Amino acid sequence: MVKVIIDNRGIPPLAGICNYESALKEGYSVERNVDLLRRYNYVKKTVHQVYNAHLARTPEWEVKCAFSYHLWLEAEHCAAIRKRVSEMREPPLKLDAIPDEKLKRLLDEVIRAEDTLELLVGIYQVIKPEIIQSLKKHLAETNPMADQPTLRLLKIILMEEEEMLTWGKAAISALIQNEVQEERAKSWEKHLTGFLQFAGGISGDSNNETAVLPEQRADGKEYEMDVVPQRDERFKDNFNQSALIDEYFQDPSRSLDERTCALLYKRLREMDVPEWMAPIIFKTKEQPWEYYVDMSRQLWDEARHAMLGEIGLYQEGVPFYNYPVDLKSSMSLNVHFEPLEAHLILWAIEQGLMPKKTGKQWEWEIATQSENKLAATIQDYDWADEVLHAQIGRKWLVPQFGGLEKAKSEIGHSMRKWGESQIQYRDMSKQEEWWTKFMEEVQQNKALNR
Ligand SMILES: [Fe+2]
Ligand SMILES: [Fe+2]
Repeated sequence: MVKVIIDNRGIPPLAGICNYESALKEGYSVERNVDLLRRYNYVKKTVHQVYNAHLARTPEWEVKCAFSYHLWLEAEHCAAIRKRVSEMREPPLKLDAIPDEKLKRLLDEVIRAEDTLELLVGIYQVIKPEIIQSLKKHLAETNPMADQPTLRLLKIILMEEEEMLTWGKAAISALIQNEVQEERAKSWEKHLTGFLQFAGGISGDSNNETAVLPEQRADGKEYEMDVVPQRDERFKDNFNQSALIDEYFQDPSRSLDERTCALLYKRLREMDVPEWMAPIIFKTKEQPWEYYVDMSRQLWDEARHAMLGEIGLYQEGVPFYNYPVDLKSSMSLNVHFEPLEAHLILWAIEQGLMPKKTGKQWEWEIATQSENKLAATIQDYDWADEVLHAQIGRKWLVPQFGGLEKAKSEIGHSMRKWGESQIQYRDMSKQEEWWTKFMEEVQQNKALNR
């Protein structure tokens, strides 16, 4: 080829995206591109469900937090990939079809992890490094100008994948405390890698001629999730409901400090919402992808609210697991309710948070009157998030009930049923009073800081 000198007047050409040389590559055809994007979408969509299936039953608080974040990222990535596929002249889009039975086999094993270690190994030691490798290859090989919208999308996904992987690697090394655990992690990784190689990698183009398929854990039936929420052993007395924090924060006879602490504790206790939403998302099938994006975002917000409570308590010098973090809500809803009714109850609660004088605005006003600036910020964003959640509930529930009035008319019955289902969990604790001790610890810490 003749080397041509172009006069670009010193200004970077080609919108700064690439140089002429790198733009010369043939790259992927639209068909190949769509084929790969469908594979990424399938893997991410299924990993999203793996997170939802395991969030409640996974005991470690920090893992629940990261799962909540990562499942929302997966939902967002799928939404972006789906949009890009729809732009590329390839109907039918087949975005909810299984692109390759061999990938399904792999993911059917990943979801059957027996504990947190296996689960993390599957996601962060097998699936994510492979996705990252596929994305990097895609970015290197596709034509940067012809396929720029895909390039942009994959760059953003890659950045978030690497962030997720960094967390996952650190969490796995924290969970491996002895040789037995190390051996289990290795053997599960080997098991899954067998399935991955058999599939020819996530892109499906690696040589798999010599791959031998290990014996499957999956038995051909659909995976059934374990809905019982678990907390790790740092948490004690998980059914203690003795602290009436919903009343304490409203009680003008208590100090603003104490009422604000009650609000922070209310935030901390919100971990039960991700525990109760994840099964709703997992069990609700065949909704438009937007449903999963909205619900995942709400789940992530609720985990953030719990972490804001965790941070608020950190500021008070109290570890978040030192006092009871009540589990009765997610336990009763997960065990005794179908997803639609559990969602209706969630929406009813969030509707109840909207009135100015008793709801989120009031919580924010109490926090702003206290000296705790952080609590005011926490309540400010919590309020904004809850307005969004009430809208999400309305958007997806009303059509499922066949109208707003019909949905509302079911609330009373469901709330009563929920109340009754919680009674049995009261007996799982001696209901010893602990709030006073907690507030004393907060006050002592304050005195030490003065
Ligand atoms: Fe919340
Ligand atoms: Fe909410």
